Amino acid sequence: MPERQYVRIDRDQEIAIVTIDRRRKLNALNQQVVTEIGDAFASLGEDDGVRGVILTGAGEKAFVAGADIGVLAEMTPLSAVEVSRRGQEVLAAIERFPKPVLAAVGGFALGGGCELAMACHLRIASANARFGLPEVTLGIVPGYGGTIRLARIVGLGRALEMTLTGDMIDAATAERYGLVSRVVERAELHGAAIALMRRITKNAPVALRFALESIYSALDSAEADAHAFESSLFGVLAATEDMREGMGAFLERRGANFRGR
Ligand code: COA
Repeated sequence: MPERQYVRIDRDQEIAIVTIDRRRKLNALNQQVVTEIGDAFASLGEDDGVRGVILTGAGEKAFVAGADIGVLAEMTPLSAVEVSRRGQEVLAAIERFPKPVLAAVGGFALGGGCELAMACHLRIASANARFGLPEVTLGIVPGYGGTIRLARIVGLGRALEMTLTGDMIDAATAERYGLVSRVVERAELHGAAIALMRRITKNAPVALRFALESIYSALDSAEADAHAFESSLFGVLAATEDMREGMGAFLERRGANFRGR
């Protein structure tokens, strides 16, 4: 396991909890934090004991308050492209992660922090959470996929308003927009995240992986290709031990014990 300064991994049985902890700067993302997030997910991808990941921020105030503005202020055009590409790469690895990833947002999720949460498959928030893409207030645009993912999640009209005003929205608005699937009190966020993830990880791991693959690949494919891909995944699942176990358990009126193969 590599030494990480800003990113911690804890375990609650089959669930890994990745915590970004640079709380003196509201968990703002510098290049090292981004690299450490990438490393954490790479190691969890290889760990067969992990069936789902919760991504969260340390402290009571922030999930992640954005990319580090101190670093952004020093960018040249070439280094700015590099910053954007590296961030996009790490967030794409989270979106393509073969196990479900849930962002537990317990405070500010701004700029790169909002983009990071959007790269996760699911999001829940505490009542004090705030979401926004304030980049235009700094003279830049979102550079970690925010101009693409926000519109996909909340729709074009709301994405345009959030992106062009740079305004924050509160947790209740984020829930109404579908940016988060539920809002809980701050003290209940961790428990709610574990409970939701556990409802997911009790299901068949290969089926979860293929559901993610089918849903995300459909975003970039022609409809007929997406349907064909879905059918082939459906076909492959018929050869898995997990399918026999899931259907056998139903017919025998017992709980299923999936082994991910
Ligand atoms: N980059 C670098 N430092 C940041 C940061 C960021 N994105 N967000 C917060 N910080 C730092 C602050 O500079 C401050 O550091 P200091 O104590 O050394 O001065 C510390 O984190 C605490 O933030 P502070 O602004 O004092 O907290 P607040 O409660 O008054 O305000 C925010 C919270 C989130 C509203 C405010 O910090 C903010 O607007 N941050 C920038 C958000 C942003 O534009 N992100 C997108 C970047 S593209």
